[in-house]
Amino acid sequence: MDIETVIRSIPKAELHLHIEGTLEPELKFELAATNGVELPYGSADEMRAAYDFDDLSSFLAQYYEGMSVLLHEADFHALAMAYFERVAAQGLVYVEMFFDPQAHTSREVAFDTVIGGLRRAQHDAADRFGIRSQLIMCFLRDHSVESALATLEHAAAYREWIIGVGLDSDERGNPPVKFRDVFAAAREQGYRLTMHCDVDQQDTTVHIRQCLDDIGVERIDHGSNAIEDEDLVAELVQRGVGLTNCPISNSYISGDTKAREIRALHEQGVLVTVNSDDPAYFPGYVGDNLAVLQREADLSRDEIVQFVRNAFIISWLDEREREAYLERVDAWVAASETG
Ligand code: ADE
Ligand code: ZN
Repeated sequence: MDIETVIRSIPKAELHLHIEGTLEPELKFELAATNGVELPYGSADEMRAAYDFDDLSSFLAQYYEGMSVLLHEADFHALAMAYFERVAAQGLVYVEMFFDPQAHTSREVAFDTVIGGLRRAQHDAADRFGIRSQLIMCFLRDHSVESALATLEHAAAYREWIIGVGLDSDERGNPPVKFRDVFAAAREQGYRLTMHCDVDQQDTTVHIRQCLDDIGVERIDHGSNAIEDEDLVAELVQRGVGLTNCPISNSYISGDTKAREIRALHEQGVLVTVNSDDPAYFPGYVGDNLAVLQREADLSRDEIVQFVRNAFIISWLDEREREAYLERVDAWVAASETG
C-alpha cells in the first residue's frame, strides 16, 4: 500500500479543529441566501480568491466576518454536517472540535442555538458516518475575563455536552495568565483544559511556560515554538503534555509548515499530533495535513502511524474508548501489511 493510501485510509482522530473554520464559501453563499445576509462577493470562487491573510490577525478578521451567515440552529447543524461528511471520506473516526460561543452571542445568536445545532449534528454524524465527536468550548482571549466567566456560567446548563475548554483568537497582549481564574474555575467544574500558543507569536515561549506552570493545561494547541527551549521540551515530555500541530495553517500564519520543528519535537519524545485548524481557510482537512507533513518531513509509514496513534493517546476519551480506538488502528495496520 502506498503512503498516500495509508494516510487516507488509516482510522484517524483530529483534536484541533474550529468548527467555524470549516465554513466553506459555497455553504456561506447558501446560508446567506437562506438568511437574507448580503455578502461582499459575487460568488464562492470570488470570495475564496479574495481571502488574503498572512498572519493571525488578518486571518481572524476574515474568520469572524464569515460567521455573519450563521444565525439559526439549522445553520450550525449544516455547518457541522458538511464538515463530518468531508472528513468521513478521509478516514476520520473521532474528533474533538472547538466552538467559539462568544463569536455568536456577541452577535445576538443564543448559546442554545449554537450548541443545539452542533449537538444534533454530532448525533447525526455518529449515526450516518460512524464519527464520534466531543466539543471543546473556546474563550476568545481578546475579549475580557468577565466575558469568559459569563460564558463559563452560561455553559453550566450544557456541562455534560462539553468535554473541555480552550483559549483562542488574538494572542498578542493576551497571555494565558489573563485567564488564570477562568481556567481554575473550569477545572473545578471538571472540564479538561487546553490553550492555543499559536506559531511564532510575540512571547510565545513565555506563553507556553505559563500554560504549563500557571494554568496546568493537559495539551497545547500549536506550541511548536517549544523547540526553542530545551527545558520546555523536557517538561512537555515529562508531563505528557501533547501538542496539536497544524502544518497547513502554519504555512499561512507564519509562512512555514514547521515540518522540521514538528519532526524534531516528535523525535525528542513530545506527543505531537497533526490537525487541520480552520480547513476552509487554510485549505486542507486532516488527511491533507498529514500528507503535507509526510512530504516535507519525509515521514515513514511507521512514523505516520505514530502520529495517528498520538492523537488517540492524548485525546480526552475515557480509557476504555481510547484503547478500543488504538486497537482499531493497530488492527488496520496489521491488515494493511498482510493484505
Ligand atoms: N480561531 C480560529 N482559529 C484560530 C487559530 N488558529 N488561532 C487562534 N484563534 C483561532
Ligand atoms: Zn486553532
